[in-house]
Amino acid sequence: MPTERQSLIMLFGATGDLATRKLYPALFQLYKKGNIRSHFALIGTSRQKLTDEKFRDLVSKSIENDVTDKKQGSDFASHFYYIAHDVTNLAHYSVLKDKADELDKKYKLGGNRVFYISMAPNFFGTVAKDLKTQHVLSEGPGFNRLVIEKPFGRDYESAKALNDALSASFEENQIFRIDHYLGKEMIQNIEAVRFGNTIFEALWNNRYIDNIQITLAEKLGVEERAGYYDNSGALRDMVQNHIMQIVSLLAMEQPVAFKDTDIRAEKVKALRSLRVYNVADAATNFVRGQYASNGAEKEYRREDGVPADSNTETFVAGKLLFDNYRWSGTPFYIRTGKKLADKFTRVDVVFKKPLVDIFAFPQNGSTPLNANVLTIYVEPTQGFSIVVNAKNNASGFQTEPVNLTYLEDAKRTKETPQPYERLIHDVLKGDGTNFASWPEVANAWKFVDQIRRVWDIQQPMFPNYIPGSMGPVAADELLARDHREWVYKLNQ
Ligand code: BG6
Repeated sequence: MPTERQSLIMLFGATGDLATRKLYPALFQLYKKGNIRSHFALIGTSRQKLTDEKFRDLVSKSIENDVTDKKQGSDFASHFYYIAHDVTNLAHYSVLKDKADELDKKYKLGGNRVFYISMAPNFFGTVAKDLKTQHVLSEGPGFNRLVIEKPFGRDYESAKALNDALSASFEENQIFRIDHYLGKEMIQNIEAVRFGNTIFEALWNNRYIDNIQITLAEKLGVEERAGYYDNSGALRDMVQNHIMQIVSLLAMEQPVAFKDTDIRAEKVKALRSLRVYNVADAATNFVRGQYASNGAEKEYRREDGVPADSNTETFVAGKLLFDNYRWSGTPFYIRTGKKLADKFTRVDVVFKKPLVDIFAFPQNGSTPLNANVLTIYVEPTQGFSIVVNAKNNASGFQTEPVNLTYLEDAKRTKETPQPYERLIHDVLKGDGTNFASWPEVANAWKFVDQIRRVWDIQQPMFPNYIPGSMGPVAADELLARDHREWVYKLNQ
């Protein structure tokens, strides 16, 4: 049987931004570490006409900052081949097939094939179909796997149509839907922290947790991506995928074993018990925003490629509720946006305060007990902190909150594999743990579609927040209404 170290990767969108910024550097790391080496080849395709040499130059350029040994860099690039390809032209697929068969023999790849589609989403289905009908899939003992980038549809209906198209050629366990947040070190750490520690998992429910907050903040605006972003908005771009995945990892029950099928089963169960809002609840529990100008920075509606009357949201905050035994009554608050105060991702788990504060008698001088808060710092800092109440060192008996913090040092963070390195390695190993399964994607869309439906019929009051803030005031009011506040506030 061929092994995971043998494989042909066929990449659709080989001259694109993702390929040069993320995929080639990730493959080079795998190559350096020996996870792929002599039994590896990549066929790059796009509409552009390029020779193998020019393609290798492009690959070499994209890894130049990571090359420490020139020969290793050029050996790596020598595994790359290029074929100009029009995905709508059936005849082109036989050229791909012949090249794949030739490289299979040359590098002894055992028939293992990964088809990686990183191009305009309207072609995803066509490519997957034609790979099968034109016999580009290998027919021997090796594997055929499909890697698919976002966006996976723009609502439930289109996602289902896409999934049906993919399913005609690939089984669910052959499809790897990329969500790069699932490749992040600290997102993967959620499961380690929860299921590896009695002190957390025993309390991980509505009896002890008051609320959970997830923040994915970005400092940059829409930059050069207006064409895509203005048709998407923050709800589709960040909530439907990244945030819903994080929510499911935080909310799921303990999987039977730490393996993809068991983990996916629990994530789906969690998402299925997420309350899908009716119109009135969607309107009250979700807030949208669009950035204004702060003088120095342009408002969203004046960014290049954005229509002057655009109603696309660049910020979302929301309250999610589960109808299940573990979480009933404990809200998950989420927020994400562009042009916010800083670029960071964090999860704050706010525990309930002790039922009785025995220290709170007036002559004592103690401040009221704080809630214990577990913070998972995802990026840019990686680590955890937990706030506990302890005695201070004054002469009386007074309590104060103390922060127990573990932050990874820069060296460790630098050594941590980047998401695409991990995820491509997982594809080669056939491990679907850190990919979104179809039922997860489907349930996430069903939830998000309801919010979208309400927003599409109501005129927003945009723009409504200034760059450098944490979004519109309504995002704070969302929690204030429940007598709560965001753990992360500006100027902390
Ligand atoms: C992408 C979105 O999925 O994630 C972008 O399309 C966003 O709009 C990006 O900027 C954020 O990812 P990260 O890893 O920089 O937090």
